[in-house]
Amino acid sequence: MNKPLLTEQPVFKLLQEKASAVPHLKDLFAADSDRAQQMLVQGPGMLLDYSKQRVNDDVLSALEQLFCQLKLPEAIRDLFSGEVVNKSENRPALHSQLRVPADKQPQAYQDVENQLQRMSRLVDKVHSGVWRGFSGKRITDVVNLGVGGSDLGPLMLTQALKEYAAPEAKNLRVHFASTIDGSQLFDLLDHLNPETTLFLIASKSFTTIDTLSNADTVRAWLSRVCPDEALMLRCHFVGISTAVEKMNQWGIVAENQLEFWPWVGGRFSLWSAVGCSIALDLGMVTFRELLAGAHAMDEHFRTAPALENIPAMMALLGVWNVNILDIRAHAILPYDGRLKYFPSYLEQLEMESNGKSVTQDGQAIDYATCPVLWGEIGANAQHAFYQLLHQGTQPVAADFILAARRYDRSLDQAHGEALTAQHELNIANCLAQSRVLALGNAAVEPADNPFRHYPGNQPSSTLLLEQLDAYTLGALIACYEHKVFTQAMIWGINPFDQWGVELGKQVALQLQPLLKQSDNDGKAGLDSSTRLLAERIADLRGQNGRSGK
Ligand code: F6P
Repeated sequence: MNKPLLTEQPVFKLLQEKASAVPHLKDLFAADSDRAQQMLVQGPGMLLDYSKQRVNDDVLSALEQLFCQLKLPEAIRDLFSGEVVNKSENRPALHSQLRVPADKQPQAYQDVENQLQRMSRLVDKVHSGVWRGFSGKRITDVVNLGVGGSDLGPLMLTQALKEYAAPEAKNLRVHFASTIDGSQLFDLLDHLNPETTLFLIASKSFTTIDTLSNADTVRAWLSRVCPDEALMLRCHFVGISTAVEKMNQWGIVAENQLEFWPWVGGRFSLWSAVGCSIALDLGMVTFRELLAGAHAMDEHFRTAPALENIPAMMALLGVWNVNILDIRAHAILPYDGRLKYFPSYLEQLEMESNGKSVTQDGQAIDYATCPVLWGEIGANAQHAFYQLLHQGTQPVAADFILAARRYDRSLDQAHGEALTAQHELNIANCLAQSRVLALGNAAVEPADNPFRHYPGNQPSSTLLLEQLDAYTLGALIACYEHKVFTQAMIWGINPFDQWGVELGKQVALQLQPLLKQSDNDGKAGLDSSTRLLAERIADLRGQNGRSGK
């Protein structure tokens, strides 16, 4: 028998009934001067303030009931105990196992630590200069070739934690190239020295055309200066994948292969050898700190009751916003320049996981799932899309992310005090924006004209980090992973597959040879838009015998 859907739960009706009884946020705050105190959840390295969400005690207790009626505690237990939670691909989702400390790792997962040690040895060799390029020079640059989960996490983390780079990593430059059009490589290859550059080919499947086309371009670039192919492969390519056979076929030598396992989803893989670029850029100590922070969040998620559990609360509030208040957009607003890539990282994590419309059993669902999620560094977005948040017609929920401490270590430098003042400005802006979104004009004074009217009542949560370091960032990422899982369980969908990306890949493969044909005959079967575009492109590229100008 199919599991009952979210909207069939008696508590869902109850939540719908309660929605109209929740006053405007300005009234909720006015009525209870201690509101925030009761809507605070403490987790590893951070706290969640959800008092600016449109909820009251009644709603919270109904959300708690929903959590229990949908058997979320059991679902969480199944996730951690390695049950087959990814049903369409018939496998568990054990990314949390990658974060278990070595001395607590059970025998069955010893290979996790073995691979970490292999990665650590590789990182050591590069940092110490034992690893040499084909001409005997030490490695100065590393390029991670990967896309999606094999790119976004490492890219985001290396950007965020730059200032924590270990001394031995400081002379190494780490770059990322993901785009199928080769643009990033085009920029990079001009500046890189083939004698001193190491490429990491990171791909869970080792079949992703985006990554393999970049890898082939690089291989051609290298073979122009190093005709000895075996030497080039040994000195300049590391493979990171679950598909050993495919790495062999491409030519990755066995000693340069780092493996992970099918039970690690692509967008959950930065904790595995996919994080090699992170370890090379920041050092193994920082990488282990990241794992430790994530593990602390795993423990928090596994053990804390729903209302004291940060990921569970974020998930429940998200469902309340989407399914009851009909808020279908969610902005991610880190007030920290270091988290520049965090919104794009979350776009994949959330939307590739939960952008689904059938249940685990393949039943169509008739309610909303993942909202459209996007974001930007908050203070910059104030000068871009906040106009819409404050006065547009779309209801939008938001996550504000802020580190309390910043520049502690720069205080003895000449610019330390100026930077600290900037951080204070940043804090004021972050708090001001969530305040205005919630209260509208009531934050200051009533509007005296329609152009200055701020309706408020836009819900947000604030995640306050003690400071942004590897430990708290590890915890923050794990927090969002678990939020995504909890929401998927509430919506009855599978967060660990991504069938929706397959058809586009298949159609691109069909189109590619047609685009190469100089006549238009092969294109006859295409829809008129695709045909016209293909013809115009061919014209513009001079493929139809006309000028390419
Ligand atoms: O096409 C989507 C996807 O499969 C993502 O889920 C994944 O993170 C990305 O492509 C890259 O896949 P791979 O690591 O197998 O190259």
